[in-house]
Amino acid sequence: MATHVCPWWMGYLLMSPWRRWLQNPEKILGPYIKEGMKILEIGPGMGFFTLPIARMVGADGKVIAVDVQTKMLRSLERRADKTGLRHRIEARLCPAASLNIGDLADTIDFAIAFAVMHEIPDPKAALNDIAVALKAGGILLISEPKNHVSDDEFKRTISLARECGLTETATPVVRRNYSVSMIKQKK
Ligand SMILES: C[S@@+](CC[C@H](N)C(=O)[O-])C[C@H]1O[C@@H](n2cnc3c(N)ncnc32)[C@H](O)[C@@H]1O
Repeated sequence: MATHVCPWWMGYLLMSPWRRWLQNPEKILGPYIKEGMKILEIGPGMGFFTLPIARMVGADGKVIAVDVQTKMLRSLERRADKTGLRHRIEARLCPAASLNIGDLADTIDFAIAFAVMHEIPDPKAALNDIAVALKAGGILLISEPKNHVSDDEFKRTISLARECGLTETATPVVRRNYSVSMIKQKK
């Protein structure tokens, strides 16, 4: 069971412009996101990926960003206001024990869980909720930092996701992270 949640002030460090050189959101997400899509982001922090996603989905798309910390979400909303992207983003607070996404069943085109799975107390319940939220054929990208997560722990997360009905499609290269994309099979 996870006990550590990224402190809110770390959110500012994660927004550093230098990080784009290491983990460029458009390059990482470009293969998955198209205009008009509905995207689910788990643990967005202050929006390092959320704001680029909101640009990528265009005027008809939407991002639902679910986080356990109010301070992260308020900062994300302020940044969204400043960039004129606020109306494309729903910042949703959740308790640690539930993602609070039961209303999203079969509506999500693409979901991202970047550097968050290791902080979630019940990863299997979270992965199940994400799998339910995805449309058939929808993709989940999981990416975990190698400095916080071991190879075995990452494999365990993949195995839990398989138990929730997701199947690996690729292992994308993201610097300093383990990454996998998984699909919800069409029936
Ligand atoms: C290390 S930060 C990563 C932020 C962002 N994904 C990024 O890469 O910049 C982890 C984020 O996950 C959130 N988080 C932790 N536990 C969570 C949970 N149980 N449900 C939803 N979000 C959670 C934290 O509040 C934090 O914003």
